[in-house]
Amino acid sequence: MVDFFEPSNVGTDNPRLIDWVEEMVKLAKPDSVYWCDGSKEEYNELSSLMVKNGTLMPLNPEKRPGCFLARSDPNDVARVENRTFICSRNEIDAGPTNNWVEPNQMLTTLRELFDGAMSGRRMYVVPFSMGPLGSHISHIGVQLTDSPYVAMSMRVMTRMGQSALNVLGKNGTFVPCMHSVGAPLQPGEKDKPWPCNDTKYIVHFPEERSIWSFGSGYGGNALLGKKCFSLRIASVMARDEGWLAEHMLILGLESPQGEKTYVAAAFPSACGKTNLAMLIPPEGYEGWKVSTVGDDIAWIKPGDDGRLYAINPEAGYFGVVPGTSMKTNPNAMKMLEQDTIFTNVALTDDGDVWWEGKDGEVPSHLIDWKGNDWTPEVNVLASHPNARFTCATSQCPSADPAWDDPNGVPISAFIFGGRLSNTFPLVYEARDWSHGVYMASTMGSEATAAADNQAAIRRDPMAMLPFCGYNMADYWTHWLNLGNKLENAPKIFRVNWFRKDSEGNFIWPGFGENMRVLEWIVERVNGHNDANDTPIGWMPNYEDLNWNGLDFSPELFSKIMTIDAADAMLEAEAQKDLFDEFGDRLPQELEQQRQHLKERLS
Ligand code: OXD
Ligand code: MN
Repeated sequence: MVDFFEPSNVGTDNPRLIDWVEEMVKLAKPDSVYWCDGSKEEYNELSSLMVKNGTLMPLNPEKRPGCFLARSDPNDVARVENRTFICSRNEIDAGPTNNWVEPNQMLTTLRELFDGAMSGRRMYVVPFSMGPLGSHISHIGVQLTDSPYVAMSMRVMTRMGQSALNVLGKNGTFVPCMHSVGAPLQPGEKDKPWPCNDTKYIVHFPEERSIWSFGSGYGGNALLGKKCFSLRIASVMARDEGWLAEHMLILGLESPQGEKTYVAAAFPSACGKTNLAMLIPPEGYEGWKVSTVGDDIAWIKPGDDGRLYAINPEAGYFGVVPGTSMKTNPNAMKMLEQDTIFTNVALTDDGDVWWEGKDGEVPSHLIDWKGNDWTPEVNVLASHPNARFTCATSQCPSADPAWDDPNGVPISAFIFGGRLSNTFPLVYEARDWSHGVYMASTMGSEATAAADNQAAIRRDPMAMLPFCGYNMADYWTHWLNLGNKLENAPKIFRVNWFRKDSEGNFIWPGFGENMRVLEWIVERVNGHNDANDTPIGWMPNYEDLNWNGLDFSPELFSKIMTIDAADAMLEAEAQKDLFDEFGDRLPQELEQQRQHLKERLS
């Protein structure tokens, strides 16, 4: 690798980019600056470097060719929501659900933290495109980072390197993303395998559309194209420009007749989004094809035909490993067989990886995610619950042929879900757009798995609670306005795979069987199927679902579809607390929807 900082060598003549890099070099004072070109050779060099310094361990090439294991610092294992800030000029524009600090005050803090933060280290300049190169739906970002793990991961997660600089061109705009692990090295000081800092700041300036992240090397804190850019900053861009940046998977469903329907679905974290995105149709669904465009984020723009078109801005998956198995996600299991970076899983004695929930027997000995000896008798988890895989989309066996299509795919339905043991049915359809936005705004999951009362719902509107870069009430207004402008707005559905019986067991088998619900949704949007008009929305009858290959009685179906009117009323009442938080920014249309529901229920 070469060290250089000669604008003539860097593959860009974009003056704004060169000025910004120069300014940040002066501030962070790295020992050297390296511009990433995104090549495979560069990826290999980065991995060799990290194998040498102990950040990465190559796995057994016979068992997991091209795979590495990283172990993070035990204090740097997940996104830090309480250290995440939206620094809009006015506090009200961040809204009551975001942390806010006055932007100049925050900039002063950041400049102090970043002053010399990269000394003893190399700064990597990581240009990237979120979305297919050159697509009208895509946008460019540039991340400066002192973490080679981040630079390497960004090559998997985005279209990274010279190709992104080519799209940027001389006059293009980009989102500047400044990142440091916050661990400068003194001359001669030995580096740690996972440098980081106990002080962490994940900061967004929505008006300037810039990001600063300090102290963490993990996931969404550090791979700034993901949650920081593609959701928090992009949601603000989307509001200003009339599109949507959503925490949604995108799925293609092709019927045996060859009719293709794309849907986008939002679920709070820990509801199995990646599993749903890679679903394999169950027995009885011969001839159906399900394909994956994305598992986490969707950028959605209106097309000339009045429909919405979506891309997955990412080019890779950063998914939770524990719980992944041949039962829950066979496509992911196949995808993870090679060329994957595993972080915080356990290591087997033969150089493979292991995690809780993996198929087969529990090994009698492992090295756990902290690097300690592990046997089944010790009472700790071998892999961290938020252990992750980083893996290219192109490796996914169910990748949709259009996953990289610059035009995006037309979206016919939005699906919203949560993890709820009662009150909410398996599936229902909104009466219209505004009712659908109301359903999505009040969604959430139970705070604890065993909870059985309404108060325990942790509201997570559109699954965007930690990801909306502005006032959530204004975001709802944006959704309402956008739908009114669309000639062919997608239909909106809510689903709940998680109803429980009186013994606390899940009633619905889930996973591949969720296909039965998806088929009903597809039939509804294509106008082929019937439904029942109920107070909460349109619901299928037992005979409206396809039961081929599954023994599921009408009695069981009724258990997961029946809504107790009194419970539904309590739920509608409980939603008032959420709406009240937003004062006069709340769109009155949503409160009217809540009142209409109460009227229909009584
Ligand atoms: C994620 C999340 O990691 O939503 O995707 O938390
Ligand atoms: Mn997510």
